[in-house]
Amino acid sequence: MTELPLSGIKVIDFTGVQAGPACTQMLAWFGADVLKVERPAGGDVTRNQLRDDPDIDALYFTMLNSNKRSLAINTKSPEGREVMEKLIRQADVLVENFAPGAMDRMGLDWETLQKWNPRLIFGSVKGFNEDSPWNDLKVYENVAQCAGGAASTTGFWDGPPTVSGAALGDSNTGMHLLIGLLLAVIDRDKTGKGQKVAVSMQDAVLNLSRVKLRDQQRLEKVGYLEEYPQHPHGEFGDAVPRGGNAGGGGQPGWVLKCKGWEDDPNAYIYFTLQEQNWKRTAEAIGHPEWVEDPDYSTPLARQPRIFEIFEAIEKWLADKTKYEAVDILREFDVPCAPVLSMKEIANDPALRRSGTVVEVEQKGRGKYLTVGSPIKFSRFKPDIQGAPLLGEHTEEVLNELGYDADAIAGLRADKIVA
Ligand code: COA
Repeated sequence: MTELPLSGIKVIDFTGVQAGPACTQMLAWFGADVLKVERPAGGDVTRNQLRDDPDIDALYFTMLNSNKRSLAINTKSPEGREVMEKLIRQADVLVENFAPGAMDRMGLDWETLQKWNPRLIFGSVKGFNEDSPWNDLKVYENVAQCAGGAASTTGFWDGPPTVSGAALGDSNTGMHLLIGLLLAVIDRDKTGKGQKVAVSMQDAVLNLSRVKLRDQQRLEKVGYLEEYPQHPHGEFGDAVPRGGNAGGGGQPGWVLKCKGWEDDPNAYIYFTLQEQNWKRTAEAIGHPEWVEDPDYSTPLARQPRIFEIFEAIEKWLADKTKYEAVDILREFDVPCAPVLSMKEIANDPALRRSGTVVEVEQKGRGKYLTVGSPIKFSRFKPDIQGAPLLGEHTEEVLNELGYDADAIAGLRADKIVA
């Protein structure tokens, strides 16, 4: 088997919920030895959240903690802190995403970590960065989407700010941290020094809302945004409005009804009117006369009647399923896709073939589906396994640190480990 790129890297995964675990899970997929350190009573809260079976770890946990080992230990006790010190002295990376101040309260502040191990890379996720006036707040997914500019620009103009179903605050922040940690590993190879890598959820959401900050500056300069549905018939205020399903770049697009939309909430496609493909698009939807018609031949001419055009396309779509429509439109190079439900994604054979959706065996549960690596490498493919039970590797890890059976029994009796 090909050696994975992170083999030999030791990671202490002192994270919970989603942002931190998503990051460390990927480190584990690519070969790092990831040790999840959890509270003896209950462990990561997600083990117990949204359970589909009262007796086994929730999918919320298993889908974010595969390929890891679990050490259940009370790190607030002097004995537990001593174990943490031993682990930190040997580790390459420590990742945490506790509430602000929690690491300091445990005596695991950055100064102490550096003293114990100057080569340590310390990854930290918080809701807001250190310069923020809100840097003391606890933060979950939707809080971050609201603070990062995503919610104010998502949804429809006549509705409230709307959060996305995609985890822009949580998993996205974890992916940003992952990039930071890998850069810090490269930097340490050159300098011999570790460092702290901090990512805030607000910043990570804003990084994905970049085009909306672009639009804010354009709006301030010209007073309108030509690709938004509000143009030219509606009003613009002084901040980027919610644009419904409009395309975010210079190419107008919309979610359009297909055959069966009356009964199936996902019988839709996303249709893009690509400027450079207008001729073939007009032919595809049965309006070849629009190619030369000055009312339709340029993006500027089309924008005032964009919803009229979308309506005409919906008429063309009325007798086609979303799959049939895409099969026709692909012949005309129209950028489009069916709106896929989670049910369709779970059963999609191509996503299974590529390893993007993976079936995993979990102790006590049997098989379940998870999302595998979206990054494909030509030399290796991660082997996605199950997640550890709480404290499954406590004894193994303490043995590795030199604790004998009596010492471990003592820690168990004092409820310091589970
Ligand atoms: N042994 C003993 N104590 C432990 C422990 C262990 N193994 N692991 C955690 N704890 C303690 C912490 O030290 C903390 O104690 P303290 O509050 O007395 O200092 C306590 O458990 C709870 O910590 P935490 O999970 O941070 O608090 P919470 O459940 O109230 O808040 C969040 C959860 C997610 C809101 C908060 O952690 C947060 O804002 N994190 C930063 C942003 C983030 O990552 N958000 C989540 C994205 S998915």
